[in-house]
Amino acid sequence: MNARKLCDTARELVADGKGLLAMDESNPTCNKRFARHGIPQTAMARRAYREMIVTTGDLGSCISGAILYDETIRQCLEDGTPFAQAIIDAGMVPGIKVDSGKTDLAGHPGEQITEGLDGLRDRLAEYGRMGARFAKWRAAIPVTEDLPSRGCIEANAQKLAGYAALCQEAGLVPVVEPEVLMDGAHTLERCAEVTQEVLRTVFAHLSLQRVMLEGMILKSNMVLPGLTCPQQEGVDEVADATLRCLLRVVPAAVPGIAFLSGGQTGVLASARLNAMNVRFKGRLPWALSFSFARAIQQPAMEIWGGSDTHVMPAQEALLHRARCNRAARRGEYGAKLESVST
Ligand code: G3H
Repeated sequence: MNARKLCDTARELVADGKGLLAMDESNPTCNKRFARHGIPQTAMARRAYREMIVTTGDLGSCISGAILYDETIRQCLEDGTPFAQAIIDAGMVPGIKVDSGKTDLAGHPGEQITEGLDGLRDRLAEYGRMGARFAKWRAAIPVTEDLPSRGCIEANAQKLAGYAALCQEAGLVPVVEPEVLMDGAHTLERCAEVTQEVLRTVFAHLSLQRVMLEGMILKSNMVLPGLTCPQQEGVDEVADATLRCLLRVVPAAVPGIAFLSGGQTGVLASARLNAMNVRFKGRLPWALSFSFARAIQQPAMEIWGGSDTHVMPAQEALLHRARCNRAARRGEYGAKLESVST
């Protein structure tokens, strides 16, 4: 393990007001999103869509790193350039999703465990040879009155820590993602309580597995009321609740926290990230960044719709959301920016 290299990469991923672009949807997830827009669910269409993304001019001024899926890192642009190289050429760092998805957690109805540790050491070595410098593993934690159980939190935290240790051994920065899900009618307070317990457990396991905190990124949910909760707090309240929670449990040695969007609209995700960076300016030990998939890609996917002739407007829409989030990182986002066409 080269500690210096890991720290440098982790810092690079959250530097200069930039954030991560998650373009690592698994084939089933990507197909589900394509189906909604009548886009063919084929390897060719997924490749073309992702070529549209990585060839967006100036994307590297807003995006520090792009997370790929296994299928994509093995594919090339139409001109024969491998995706990882295209990302490097665009001034971004290539990353790779390495978990193999969720499965039901035995003995825990309604809860799931993320798998993928088998053979991971070899896969990380291969991804490293392909150019990946960081990786991602996502655990999904549901919220109800009774869930999550201690068993689910512990089991997922243990796997996240095992994954993170293997990544650092291989010289890749682990993005550690325990996502507390937005589905449900739970309150903001309940989300805060669960997020706090989950993160405490995750950091305890990271410490047990001797994960170097300076060489990782935390990918967290924001603290939000459930999607169907009747009480939906405003942007500032969300910002305060999220930071109150994170400041209690995320060690200062972690260089950055990159939020997932989790199904928020692009505009809300930017507004909430902006509020956090405005209200807590100069008071945070870590950078507050983004690692959005839907909140950056959604409008672009709709416009692209599988058609070559829509590539340019789709790229404009993608770059617009990327710029909004760069502004949000700097606390400079606002309604005016949304009305500016790119
Ligand atoms: O693992 C989850 C994704 O990387 C983030 O996706 O921003 O659409 O929630 P999202």
